[in-house]
Formats: sequence, C-alpha cells, structure tokens
Amino acid sequence: MRKEYLFTPGPTPIPSKVAAVQTEDLVYHRRKDYHEIYERIVGNLRPFFGTEQPIILITGSGTAAMEAAVANVVSPGDRVIVVRSGFFGDRWADICKAFGGMVRSVDVEWGRAVNPRLIEQRLEEEGGKNTRAVFCTFVDTSTGTVHDIEAIGEVVKNYDALLVVDAVSGVGCMEFRADEWGVDVALSASQKGFMSPPGISVIALSADAWRVCEHTKNHRYYFDLTRYRENYDRFEPPYTPAINTVRAFDVALQAMNEEGPKQVFARHERVARAARSAVSALGLSVFPMNPADVLTVFKPPDEIAAAELRDHIYKKYGVFFAGGQGQLKGKVIRIGHMGAVTSIDILGALGALEMGLADLGYDGRQGQGLTTALEVLRNE
Ligand SMILES: Cc1ncc(COP(=O)(O)O)c(C=O)c1O
Repeated sequence: MRKEYLFTPGPTPIPSKVAAVQTEDLVYHRRKDYHEIYERIVGNLRPFFGTEQPIILITGSGTAAMEAAVANVVSPGDRVIVVRSGFFGDRWADICKAFGGMVRSVDVEWGRAVNPRLIEQRLEEEGGKNTRAVFCTFVDTSTGTVHDIEAIGEVVKNYDALLVVDAVSGVGCMEFRADEWGVDVALSASQKGFMSPPGISVIALSADAWRVCEHTKNHRYYFDLTRYRENYDRFEPPYTPAINTVRAFDVALQAMNEEGPKQVFARHERVARAARSAVSALGLSVFPMNPADVLTVFKPPDEIAAAELRDHIYKKYGVFFAGGQGQLKGKVIRIGHMGAVTSIDILGALGALEMGLADLGYDGRQGQGLTTALEVLRNE
C-alpha cells in the first residue's frame, strides 16, 4: 500500500471536503448563487489580508496577480524599486522590466530579511517623489525568509510611492495586516496557505493604488483591474471564473474562519517551530536567518546530495519535499507546512526525513529530530 504526501510549499494538501465540491454541478456566474459565493469569499479573506478594501479574484496562479499588479500601477518609464532577496524578488524585477518599468534593485543576500533602511536609502537616492512603487515579497518561498512588511510600510509611507507586496506565501498562515501596515497592493493565490486547488489569485488595492490604476498607461486587457472593479459591488466577475475552483476556495475559507485566524496562525507557528527544532537537532542547518512559519528550508548533510535525499524519501516513503530554486538549486531542501498541515502531519514528514537520512548513511542523531519535535508539539 502506497500513500503520497505532499509537503511542498505550494501546492499544498487539500482537505477532502474542499476537493469534493469541485465535482458538484456548476452554478452560473452571473446569478445570485455565484455572487453570494464571491461575497462570502471576500468576507472570509478580510481577516487574513487585514484589509477593508475590495478584494478581487482573478483566474490564474499567483503570477497572474503579480502581472496584474505591475500592469495596473506601472507605466512604461516609471521608476520602481524592487527588493531582490530570492527567486520571487527576481520575478518582480522581470515582470516590472517586461512592462517597461525602470528597475532599481535593493539586493539582499538570499536567506536574509531586507533591512528597511536600505529601501529608504534607495528612495532618497531616487529623489523620493520619483518612484512609482516599491515591490517586495512577504515570504520568499525560495529561501524561507519572512520580511518585516510592517517596518517596510513605515518607511514607504513617507514617500509618494505605492507599496506592492507579493504575499503568495504567508498570507492565510501568518498575520498580515495590509491596511495597518500601509500595503497598497497585496496579492496571493489559492494553492498555498488557503489549502485550495491552484488556479485563483487574489489581489487587494488601496484607494491610492486604485487612483494610480486609472491613469496607468500600459498594455492590459484580461488583467485590467478596472474591469474587475466595474461590477464588483454586486460581486460579479468580468469573465467566466474557474467556478468550481472558486467554490472549493470558498469551502476552504469557511473552514479557516471556523478554526479562527488566530488559531490558524498559532498552529502554523507551532508546526514550524517543531520542524525547525527537529532539523537543528539532527545536526542540520536551517537556511534563512529570519524563517517564516510556512516552510522549513535547510541544507542537507555535506555527504548527501539534496536531490538524492529527496528522491529516496519520495520513492521509499511517498513523502515529497521541494528542492532549491535559482541559486539554491541542489543546495537546500524545502519542507512546506502551510495550509492543512497538523502536528501529526509534520511528525510524519520529519519521520520520513530521519529514515531517509539513516538509509543514506547519515551518521546523525537518529530519533533526536522527532524527540525534539514531540517536545514542542506535546507541550502546547
Ligand atoms: C512568494 C511567491 N510568489 C509568487 C509565486 C508564484 O506563484 P504561482 O506559481 O502560483 O504563479 C510563488 C509560488 O511558488 C511564491 O511562492
């Protein structure tokens, strides 16, 4: 008997009641039934995004919302500041360039969180007023680092620039307060912390960002957010949405609100602490200096290749971990624990890691990872 376990940082496991709704009959998206679903989703997303602004659903993965963000606030020739601290910071830079933005980077060593003073410095160098937006990432999933968006917001609010945050990873699992932190554009996707199938991205804009949007001169049609805004007040999308994926998202969000945002955050914090302490107890090093609670990125032992360890664990135990991306390819292993992940699940994942290491001859401290994780999980 073989079971498969997905411990990747997106997509993430989907509860069966979320998966089940996808097989139900479709509802028509220009009728009250769908409007009610959309409205409920927006209401249930609010505590996770920390916003009272309109929340728009777009059919597409997280990158669709990233492209929508750029296409709607950046005009060709606009100066933008991009925090590049991982694979997804680089993606911001690529998209901004593709839409004609004049990219000024704040380069951060992978694994470290950006110091907001560097952003301030860059804004000053650019003459402050001449920057359209600052682009950054909440949790860069490639390094497992969480950035202090609140502190970045404190800096950016002193300038006439929008703050745009890729929160594809982290939102839904860790506290995020778009309005309070001064985030003008916040975006995420269904397949990570929201324990839903891939295919829906979510974007929320502040009043300032909507104003910029109206005057942006850039090519856009499907991603023109003003079209999504037109019938938003009655919760009608401009184009045919992925209806049953949206319904699955709705069921997942209801479950998350029943558990309660604070409880959801606490569960992620606990599971993450268990994973990090287990990895350390095994004598391995957690890669990021400022780790997020949604995934654990660590270096395998020097004598075992990351790909070999991941392949072995998957083939023998059915547990799938992600590998490194960009400059970390082949150098790290990423265990996702976002969304529908419990204490019991993480114990299974850590058990598979320990067995895999032992199988490949790692003369580590067999059992110490699990013992440490159990201490964290049992004592709460
Ligand atoms: C931080 C971050 N941003 C953006 C993306 C891109 O999202 P998608 O693959 O849904 O387009 C991901 C996906 O891994 C991500 O982790």
